[in-house]
Parts: sequence; C-alpha cells; structure tokens
Amino acid sequence: MQNNIIRILALGDVVGKSGVERVAGELFKIKSELNADVVLVNGENTSEYNGLDVYSAKMLLDGGADVITGGNHTINLKEIYSMLDENPYLLRPANFPPLCPGRGYTVIQSVSGLRILVINVAGQVFMPPADNPFVCVDRILKENEGKYDLAVADFHGEATSEKTAFGLWFDGRIHCIYGTHTHIPTADETLLPKGTGYITDIGMCGVREGTVLGVKAETVVNKFISGVHERFERISGKVEINGVLFEVDVLQKRCVGVKRIKHV
Ligand SMILES: [Fe+2]
Repeated sequence: MQNNIIRILALGDVVGKSGVERVAGELFKIKSELNADVVLVNGENTSEYNGLDVYSAKMLLDGGADVITGGNHTINLKEIYSMLDENPYLLRPANFPPLCPGRGYTVIQSVSGLRILVINVAGQVFMPPADNPFVCVDRILKENEGKYDLAVADFHGEATSEKTAFGLWFDGRIHCIYGTHTHIPTADETLLPKGTGYITDIGMCGVREGTVLGVKAETVVNKFISGVHERFERISGKVEINGVLFEVDVLQKRCVGVKRIKHV
C-alpha cells in the first residue's frame, strides 16, 4: 500500500483448464505490474463442464488469488464441497440456501493489516433461485459491523439493471462493487457519489475466439438454432484476462480509482 491507497484487483470468471493455467501462471506477474495488494478471482467456471473443482481452486490460490469468488455454478461438483466448508478463501453466493456447503463472505487481512470484508452474492433476475441479494447483503454488513475496514462485493448476475441498482443501494457502504457472470465486460466503470467504485461486469478470463462466452461456439449456436442442448465444451486457445483494478483511499474510506484491465 502506498500513500494510503490500497489496490484491489478482481478478475472475471476463469473459464476451463486453459483459463486456469494462464491466470495461475501469470497472476503474480500481473499483481506486481499493477501494484495490487489484494487479488480476487471468480472461479465458478473453472472445471471443464462448469463448476469449481479442487485442482483449479488450488492452482488459483497457489498462483496468487487471495479469495476465489463464485456464482450459480460453484457447487456443481461434489468434490469441492469439503474445501468450500473448510477453506475461508473460497466463496459461493451468500444468498444460497443456509444448508448449502461453504460461505458467502469472508474477512481477509491485507499485508498492511486492513481487514477486508469480501462478499459474494447472486442476482435473482434471469438466474436460478436465490434469496434477495439486497436484504442478504444488508444483513451481512450489519452482522459484521466493526469487524472490517473495507468491503468489496462480487455481484454474480445477468441483469444489468439489478447490478446497477445494487451498486447504488450500497454506495458508500461497500467500497468496491463489480459484476461477474455474463463474461462480457461493460464500459461503465465509475465512482458513485458516496464513494463506491462500481462496474456492472468485468468479463471473463477465457478463450474469446471461436467461442460463445468461452464455450465452443458450435454447441451454443446449435442450441439456439435447433433447441437441442449439447454438453457445452471448452476449447483451448488464446486466453484473454479481463478484470478491474480498484484504488481505495483507506483514510477517507472512498474508492478513488476504477480501471478496467485487459490482457490478451
Ligand atoms: Fe455464472
């Protein structure tokens, strides 16, 4: 941390083995180039057929991720359940049913000693059933009052309206809010009036060319044309890394910078 500014890097949905290998292989270098203090990575699509698998979770944590956030696919694979329960650095959406394995938020400590509350929550619009994300996160902030210095949220959702509303509702209470899930980065990064850094979606870390959102194009196109659902396949290729870098003034408790990151 320099001049009371902490830099928080968040990377979008890592897709498949090729995404995991590139992110895990380059994360320390990217972190150092960007002078990032904390790195959050969304890992709900790391396994070859969606979901978070143990191998990928370990690769990303060993590679430099401080927390792996998730989404609607995080709990697809049973093999991850015990790791979700035991490892405080893996998250699934906080508004999933109470008996779901794992947790929806965690408090990590930066090198400079700041306590950072990291929250993962899922949207309700065009998404599988989940509790109300607004009510859920209001409750988390209240229950953790005094236990953290800064708060960050990964809102995993489809609808831009829901994400924008979430950003405004929590403006000034959560210092950095970013969206994941659509795999398409949006160009609306902004500083909200009460001091929150916000972006609707940060995109993915996956293969863009020849794919639809990181999935082999033919399988998705055929589904739209014929209605027949084929198993979605990953393809290997050039992985692009997309994310956002937030700069937060820790004395003023305000985000002072939001910058989209793209490595091709
Ligand atoms: Fe998702």
